[in-house]
Amino acid sequence: MNMIKVSKLFYIEVAMADMTTTDQLKIPKHVAIIMDGNGRWAKKQGKNRTYGHKSGSDNLKVIARAASDMGIKYLTVYAFSTENWKRPSTEVSFLMGLLRQYLKDSIKNAKKDNMRVVVIGRRSDLDPDIREAIESLEVASKNHTGLTLQIAINYGGRDEIIRAIKAYEIEKEKHPDIELDEKLFGDFLDTKDIPDPELMIRTSGEVRSSNFLIWQLAYSEFFFVKKHWPEFTSDDLMEAIKAYNKVSRRFGGLKDES
Ligand code: FPP
Repeated sequence: MNMIKVSKLFYIEVAMADMTTTDQLKIPKHVAIIMDGNGRWAKKQGKNRTYGHKSGSDNLKVIARAASDMGIKYLTVYAFSTENWKRPSTEVSFLMGLLRQYLKDSIKNAKKDNMRVVVIGRRSDLDPDIREAIESLEVASKNHTGLTLQIAINYGGRDEIIRAIKAYEIEKEKHPDIELDEKLFGDFLDTKDIPDPELMIRTSGEVRSSNFLIWQLAYSEFFFVKKHWPEFTSDDLMEAIKAYNKVSRRFGGLKDES
């Protein structure tokens, strides 16, 4: 096991036997992304924040296609958090409008790209037409066999866990014999049937997880990139995958088990 110095503060452990060339890269099955920095990126261009969000939403289409081309099976993106309601109402309305449009466009795009789209998060707070658009898209794309794009809308990891506990309690009333374990608990989460991400990427330089998939990211590798989301490219995604390939994943054990 070698230690590679990547900065004064951070070291990554690299199993030399695991080093691969680009054409032998191990592609993670599931990548999660916190698409941060739309506002800062727009400001840098002398534009308003809404321009940044529109560009961010356009970039998601590009990156989802790139992820699919690379052989990634699941891509989860944080589009709107349970905390984002605290933003000015004009920005919230703009983001909801973008989501509406994204969901509508996705019916056509999902068919063209053979992409399945699912949404996680608390739907009850969303406008009825957005809930309907989500349901139509999920139904229309459910048999597509390419990339599964999982969009987190009005999503918070803590909120998801509380909802899962409540759903479990109802089930326990009906079936007192059931025993709670990690596998069973996972079945009550929004991400039921979707494997945990191996890799989580956050753009824009912030080094935190912001209530995103807090149960599912327990053993994921985190990759933080300085670029803002609208300027994040498929090459940057590939860089993150290369970095992921250099890390030895031990899941609390002693040897590489990935
Ligand atoms: C962070 O930028 C971005 C969000 C609030 C969530 C991501 C939203 C999008 C990519 C656009 C809408 C998405 C879809 C799927 C239609 P920020 O506003 O926090 O930027 P800042 O940190 O620079 O202020």
